[in-house]
Amino acid sequence: MKTNVIDTTPFDDQKPGTSGLRKKVEVFRQAAYLENFVQAIFDSIRDNADAPENRSLVLGGDGRYYNREAIQIILRMAAANGFSKVWVGQGGILSTPAASCVIRKYQSFGGIILSASHNPGGPDGDFGIKYNTGNGGPAPEGITDAIFACSRSLKSYRIVEAPDVDIDSLGSHALGEMRVEVIDPVADYAELMESLFDFDAIRGLIAGGFRLCFDAMHAVTGPYAREILEQRLGAPAGTVINGVPLPDFGDGHPDPNLTYAHELVDIMFNADAQAAPDFGAASDGDGDRNMVLGRHFFVNPSDSLAIIAANATLAPGYSDGLAGIARSMPTSAAADRVADKLGIPCYETPTGWKFFGNLMDAGKVTLCGEESFGTGSSHVREKDGLWAVLFWLNILAQRHLSVEDVVHSHWAEYGRNVYSRHDYEALPSDVANDLMAHLKNRFGELPGKRLGTYTILFCDDFSYVDPVDGSIATGQGLRFGFTDGSRIVFRLSGTGTEGATLRIYLEAFEPDAARHGADAQLALQPLIEIAHDLSQLQQRTGRLAPTVIT
Ligand code: G1P
Ligand code: ZN
Repeated sequence: MKTNVIDTTPFDDQKPGTSGLRKKVEVFRQAAYLENFVQAIFDSIRDNADAPENRSLVLGGDGRYYNREAIQIILRMAAANGFSKVWVGQGGILSTPAASCVIRKYQSFGGIILSASHNPGGPDGDFGIKYNTGNGGPAPEGITDAIFACSRSLKSYRIVEAPDVDIDSLGSHALGEMRVEVIDPVADYAELMESLFDFDAIRGLIAGGFRLCFDAMHAVTGPYAREILEQRLGAPAGTVINGVPLPDFGDGHPDPNLTYAHELVDIMFNADAQAAPDFGAASDGDGDRNMVLGRHFFVNPSDSLAIIAANATLAPGYSDGLAGIARSMPTSAAADRVADKLGIPCYETPTGWKFFGNLMDAGKVTLCGEESFGTGSSHVREKDGLWAVLFWLNILAQRHLSVEDVVHSHWAEYGRNVYSRHDYEALPSDVANDLMAHLKNRFGELPGKRLGTYTILFCDDFSYVDPVDGSIATGQGLRFGFTDGSRIVFRLSGTGTEGATLRIYLEAFEPDAARHGADAQLALQPLIEIAHDLSQLQQRTGRLAPTVIT
């Protein structure tokens, strides 16, 4: 088989972000664009002195437009770069948590995941690629820096000349010297879920008439949810809606929040309450996020993490208790209260999943989560949408309460961290950067200042020293803490692909959970006004309302 070494022009500024490289499909389809990035990944692995001679890889993606073409290119390049074996999900499909599971189970050297997560797909949508290491988690900064350095200096890429591998047929295929093992994308993951949760109890719950609806949003979780919820747990056919993965996600935006998962929201908030199912959930493009709903009830992801932590021992995989909990800085402190009560540590990390990996590898935490609909545990090294859904079902099957009652009983016991995130999407970058600079400029004058009924205690730009490897992350979000424990955080998104996205995170602690009913926006109104004043939001952005409220 002929290996071609093709001269190429190095990238100048394509630094992979915390979630890998994400760009418009048309950017990825430029000559040698994907190839350069893949070669940079392979070169950085080769430069790593510990790399074994015979390297293996896991490869799969969320099925979005360009997934299949990219898989064939990467396979031919892996063969040309001396890999011995690549495990590929059938049809090129692997959800992000399933890829992490497979990397760990087969002890592969690493994995390449093709996804732009919750960003829209299709010819005009987004595509993305990220490299995960042998622990199943996203590559740490040292490795993404090395990939970036390689991408700036490479002069050629290597690729074999060969016909496409039949990635739709299970089993072993040859590509030159390399083996391509096409695996069932669902089986290993489903087996792992069965080992963690009480499937008998959940089956009993469903057989007893408990009704659920899972919206796969035409993204990757469709086949996973059908196999696990409908086949193994006995939920009726049709429980999974939008279950067929489509290259353009059916022209939808596969982000499980109250705005984009509107089909599920309409079902769960049906005017005729009795017609609404007991439980609803959705996942995103690549299957790592989750939104959980009860009948006419939204579970805030920060509360979801805390509630899973408080009830963890009800699931067989967690019956021995938790080593610790980690949450990202903008996530509410609801989980901290549970950790306090359990007498276990709670770590506050920067946004992005990679910071949890070190803590989990070191055995310091079992559960972790983010306010952005991401929850997970040490069973893999990615956040995991269906896992969170199964955890909730396991809790409901044991506690015989509605979703709403589980949340209310949690608030009654721990108090409530009233919480919301307001996103302003597609702002001009200079406007967003100026707004952040303006806020930082005010740091000096604000502490001690009274704003309405609130008094500012501190403001800072969050930084984090990793307790495992000592690495330091700075510039992780502007925090304004108030004397009563309430908080406003301003952050610019690192994953948006159009202009800049400003996220404003609002949190007020309410010891008497009954006081505000369920309406977080109402309870947070004074903090929202303070956030707008502090940042001169309307005058700087011209926006009267957020694009998305969570
Ligand atoms: C967003 C979320 C963050 C999550 C990331 C990847 O990043 O806010 O919590 O880890 O997506 O799913 P952001 O766009 O805010 O940088
Ligand atoms: Zn995702």
